[in-house]
Amino acid sequence: MMEYIGATGIPMTFDPVSVEDGIDFHFILSFAIDANSSGNSQNGVFSPYWVPTLTPEGVAAIKESHPNVKVMASLSGWSLGDTVLHWYDPEDPDKWVSNGVSSLKSIINKYHLDGIDIDYETFPKNQTKFAYCIGGLISELKNQSVITVATIAPFYSTTDPYIELHDGYGDVIDYINYQFYTDKVRRPQGYLETFKLRAMQFGAEKLLPSYEIAGRGIQGDAFFQALELLEDSGFALNGVMIFSADAGSQNGYYYERESQAFLLNATTV
Ligand SMILES: *[C@@H]1O[C@H](CO)[C@@H](O)[C@H](O)[C@H]1NC(C)=O
Ligand SMILES: *[C@@H]1O[C@H](CO)[C@@H](O)[C@H](O)[C@H]1NC(C)=O
Ligand SMILES: *[C@@H]1O[C@H](CO)[C@@H](O)[C@H](O)[C@H]1NC(C)=O
Ligand SMILES: *[C@@H]1O[C@H](CO)[C@@H](O)[C@H](O)[C@H]1NC(C)=O
Repeated sequence: MMEYIGATGIPMTFDPVSVEDGIDFHFILSFAIDANSSGNSQNGVFSPYWVPTLTPEGVAAIKESHPNVKVMASLSGWSLGDTVLHWYDPEDPDKWVSNGVSSLKSIINKYHLDGIDIDYETFPKNQTKFAYCIGGLISELKNQSVITVATIAPFYSTTDPYIELHDGYGDVIDYINYQFYTDKVRRPQGYLETFKLRAMQFGAEKLLPSYEIAGRGIQGDAFFQALELLEDSGFALNGVMIFSADAGSQNGYYYERESQAFLLNATTV
């Protein structure tokens, strides 16, 4: 289970989110950004910009009360304040990677994190160093045992750079948090067709179906019908990604609870 948290500025904490024992639950802090507070890029030096109520103490406490909880930091996201963020090729890619490793290492140690998620969402033309830099960053963090889990979050118009990343560095990428809601498919059959397409691009095993609470794409219990259809069609679902806990608080975390019930049921059959 994967769930983004902390992107909207609503003062969130981990405690109210329903977490079941029996499957790993990854909270994804949103976001750590290679920018200063004015939105200027810092050559790979990342800083945390998730809501400040998600503290290092909060992370330690939720992990202590639920040993199946892991907490990650997602890199970049759509924007910082009014500044739309984009990938940029650094002048010196190796320097960018080493800045990324050292700044993330300090954030990861401070916040007791287990991994990183990659969520760059805008790719200007002719920027070709994304796979090299991000692949190098993940590899180095794993090599130094700073992280144990790494995920990537492509969406419909950003699949190309992520396919290049996954083709080159798939060994160190654990799950694909593909943002199915950006395909704006509203019915289970359409969801299945989209899942098949993305499974061809990224492989079915690491690909997680995803849901945006009060958002785009399939909504309501049709999502769970889509999950059943995926299973009936032979896909072994290895998780579900939800965006985001910030919205889940408004309906008692219904989609989190139902998704975990679905996954637990699926793993016991
Ligand atoms: C961010 O960086 C830019 C350019 O490097 C600089 O002009 C600006 O003052 C910095 N902002 C802050 C808040 O440090
Ligand atoms: C990419 O860069 C090349 C060489 O600098 C240039 O000829 C080409 O027009 C650029 N392509 C785009 C889509 O910007
Ligand atoms: C880290 O990289 C070195 C050199 O490539 C390699 O020998 C070592 O096994 C790697 N360690 C881990 C934990 O991946
Ligand atoms: C659990 O799985 C069984 C068999 O696939 C199904 O009939 C049942 O509705 C499932 N229950 C839940 C809570 O998903």
